[in-house]
Amino acid sequence: MINLSRRTFVSGATSLAALGTIFTPWPVFATDRPPLPIPAELKANAKGEIALHARLGQQRFLPGLITPTYGINGPFLGPAVRVRRGESVVMSVSNGIDKDITIHWHGLKIPGDVDGSPYTVIHPGKTWTPTLRIEQPAATCWFHPHFYPTTAEQVIMGLSGLLVIDDEESEGLGLPSRWGVDDIPLVLQDRRFDPDGSFFHQFNLVAITTGYIGDTMLVNGAHYPEAETARGWLRLRLLNGSNARSYRLAVSDSRPLFVVASDGGLLAEPVQLTELMMYAGERYEVLVDARDGKAFDLVTRPVDQMAMNLPPFDAELPLVTLRPTGVEGKGRLPETLVRMPPLVEDLPTTQTLVIGMRLDDEGMRILKEAGLMNYNMSKKADPDVVNALNRVITEGPALPLDKQLSANTINGKPFEMGVVPFSAPLNQDLRWAISEGSDRMLHPIHIHGCQFRILALDGKAPPAHMAGWKDIAPVAKGGSCEIQIRFEHPAPDASPFMAHCHILEHEDSGMMTNFSVS
Ligand code: C2O
Ligand code: CU
Ligand code: CU
Repeated sequence: MINLSRRTFVSGATSLAALGTIFTPWPVFATDRPPLPIPAELKANAKGEIALHARLGQQRFLPGLITPTYGINGPFLGPAVRVRRGESVVMSVSNGIDKDITIHWHGLKIPGDVDGSPYTVIHPGKTWTPTLRIEQPAATCWFHPHFYPTTAEQVIMGLSGLLVIDDEESEGLGLPSRWGVDDIPLVLQDRRFDPDGSFFHQFNLVAITTGYIGDTMLVNGAHYPEAETARGWLRLRLLNGSNARSYRLAVSDSRPLFVVASDGGLLAEPVQLTELMMYAGERYEVLVDARDGKAFDLVTRPVDQMAMNLPPFDAELPLVTLRPTGVEGKGRLPETLVRMPPLVEDLPTTQTLVIGMRLDDEGMRILKEAGLMNYNMSKKADPDVVNALNRVITEGPALPLDKQLSANTINGKPFEMGVVPFSAPLNQDLRWAISEGSDRMLHPIHIHGCQFRILALDGKAPPAHMAGWKDIAPVAKGGSCEIQIRFEHPAPDASPFMAHCHILEHEDSGMMTNFSVS
């Protein structure tokens, strides 16, 4: 975190987030705002190969602070890998970091042995070359490490990037598609900084309970950046790449959001919203009408998620400014998008996943003692309470590894490498039911090797923007989710698929299970 003495180093930034003060964004002098970084598109070369190199880096996210980072083909985050439906690409992933990593292709329908799960470790100095056959519709997916049990830390350091699938059907719709011009990728991540500039990361009881609680927002790796875009319809390709945080996204002048795609691809038709909830790991593509050329901010509003409403998230927080004053936009908002196959009726439930937390009472007690409940109920943030809460987030000691690894469970058992508790049949429509045991926390549950459909959220039909292809289903507050799911690729016991919570601190502490498909 930033301490008060640091503040004196920063010229011009009179409202830097300081511990215990309410955050206000940088002053709006053009020179104070970083430009929005647009990740470079990376397509297969003539030989059908895409090279990704994980490396160490450093970056200046905040004035006066140098932060050690990880990146892929650059110092922080990665390129936007672009592949096409029908294509076979050879990924060549080399590890230039001094730690074991894996790279998982989140959202791809591919077999278990190329999925990049905890089983396909890339040792330092080594290269992994899986062949990926892209056999699914256009979608915004992503890649990130999945090394057990340090996924959370490696993602914080910067190992992740977008993976965009293109196809003819989506290209025929006339959606905005000029990268960085009217098709704007936005990777949302929260971070917290130690006084020496490093990213804060501590696997303590609070982290195991709530997941990572940042106090500074990064969009594509920049703090409150701005960009000039086309004047016209804009397509925002949103990735919630945060370890744990949910966002309630809106546009500062409340113009509508038209959701056109979810995790696994385009919806049947655009869904008009004024606010879009996004859970960790989710993607949505949203069209915004900027034909009037008026600048706007993408903002996030306070969310109902444990301990995630500390400043600056206690009020509407601007994330990025878009100025639609550039070239004339060419894209449009179609009336209909793609045909969604009808849901299968009367499927029996063949698999249940019950989430369990063993240390949530202990974690909650620490937060309650620091005043979280009073903080939630009071209208105005009391700086002493905010300080106390930030202290338990940052100062709680790391848990011993065995305690970490057994803190959370699926179906009563913490994750264990090599143990495959169940299997699913290939090429069959299935119904799975996901629910929480006794805890009341949020768990965005992700399943590898497929794209599924949400049939019911807490017993009710899902909202329209969640009724398309999904690979993450949220359960919260003792809730449940039923999904229709189908696996079209095998995953043997030796390289199984994973089902896990995408709150990465939950994943790294047992809330994950293996399963095979055959
Ligand atoms: Cu995005 Cu198994 O993860
Ligand atoms: Cu995944
Ligand atoms: Cu969870």
